[in-house]
Amino acid sequence: MSIAPSTEPAVVGGPSLPQRRELVTEIPGPRSRALHARKSAAVASGVGVTLPVYVEAAGGGVVRDVDGNTLIDFGSGIAVTGVGNAAPAVAEAVQRQAAAFTHTCFTITGYAGYVEVAEALNALTPGDFDKRTALFNSGAEAVENAVKIARHHTGKQAVVAFDHAYHGRTNLTMALTAKSMPYKSGFGPFAPEVYRAPLSYPYRDGGLSGAEAAARAISVIEKQVGADNLAALIVEPIQGEGGFIVPAPGFLPALLAWARANDVVFIADEVQTGFARTGAMFASEHEGIEPDLIVTAKGIAGGLPLSAVTGRAEIMDSAHPGGLGGTYTGNPLACAAALATIETYRRDDLAERARELETLFRGRLNALRTADPRIGDVRGRGAMMAIELVDPAAGAPDAALTGRVAAAAHAAGLILLTCGTYGNVIRFLPPLVISDELAREGLDVLRDSLAAS
Ligand SMILES: Cc1ncc(COP(=O)(O)O)c(C=O)c1O
Repeated sequence: MSIAPSTEPAVVGGPSLPQRRELVTEIPGPRSRALHARKSAAVASGVGVTLPVYVEAAGGGVVRDVDGNTLIDFGSGIAVTGVGNAAPAVAEAVQRQAAAFTHTCFTITGYAGYVEVAEALNALTPGDFDKRTALFNSGAEAVENAVKIARHHTGKQAVVAFDHAYHGRTNLTMALTAKSMPYKSGFGPFAPEVYRAPLSYPYRDGGLSGAEAAARAISVIEKQVGADNLAALIVEPIQGEGGFIVPAPGFLPALLAWARANDVVFIADEVQTGFARTGAMFASEHEGIEPDLIVTAKGIAGGLPLSAVTGRAEIMDSAHPGGLGGTYTGNPLACAAALATIETYRRDDLAERARELETLFRGRLNALRTADPRIGDVRGRGAMMAIELVDPAAGAPDAALTGRVAAAAHAAGLILLTCGTYGNVIRFLPPLVISDELAREGLDVLRDSLAAS
């Protein structure tokens, strides 16, 4: 085993990789299997791997593995590489920054990149009011900080999250996350003063309108928590890991109005939905809402680890100097990547591209649903679409079928992700730069995988 830096010439990914699915071995191939055996011996088991294919290069709509197989990417590393993997503008910005300096710790000596990312997020997020931003490393860390800020601002402690929510794997975010296995089971005790309210889930809540679902949630909150104790509501405008659940229209605005009237900070967790993914720069825009705080990560920096809390200046500025930060928060490489990434979303109008992908996916998925009653629901927005698989007779979630479909797709060279509280949702998160041709081919693989399952 070598631990010296590699002297091999750098492998080049990005959009110049041939944009076609090509399998030259079984999936996973022998080199991936060998690496996976080393992974099992070296990496903690809790760090699971969905598809044990080891990547050599990626770009556009494909991922090439160490055996030379090229897979179609319907995952984007869980909604991260919207601008594409190794996007040239991002790679160049990171190289330039790495040659200048890699770290100072922003809270010791500052640099322009951090300030510029904050300015960009303040301008880009919904709401024409004075804003401030703080940068962090991961989505979970940013969620934690949004809650810290809301508590400091309101002087209150309780936080309400929703059924099916996913906010991360740190202690506070595990408490906010709904699903026990695999995210929480055995990892307690969890942070206190976290409460849960019912969501709007149109496919499964008997057709409640957004206003009715919000009234139900508010009633639970008022009875079980009390606005006087409540610092913040945190909600994903479209739920991610919980099953790509799009709440009924009116649900989010009603919650926001109630929060405003009750001195409760409304936090939108846009970690998965942000940055053009849903066909708007932020999913909150679809409902016309202006959250007090917006949490972002994933798509922000083309694959570099960065996250942010952006929001009303009077709330963001309430925490004392030194109360927010961390050694690596707003790392200069990640900031350089974010500036290039955000510019790419704007320059190439990737929100419009996400809307085009929605048309393509929705059309094909609806046609599949008509032919196959095991597809109970087709939902989502932009390039964040999903199907919910059920037993057609009872409507019960069919997680086993979902697993079989994903496995068949993987074997055929399509990276496909599942999600959902009941494990029965297949989600589609292609890079926004994927070609129509590859997207269609991936959907053909899905069709065949369903038929074979
Ligand atoms: C909505 C949402 N919030 C928070 C997180 C946690 O982000 P991270 O994995 O970067 O900590 C995720 C990750 O999937 C997410 O989808």
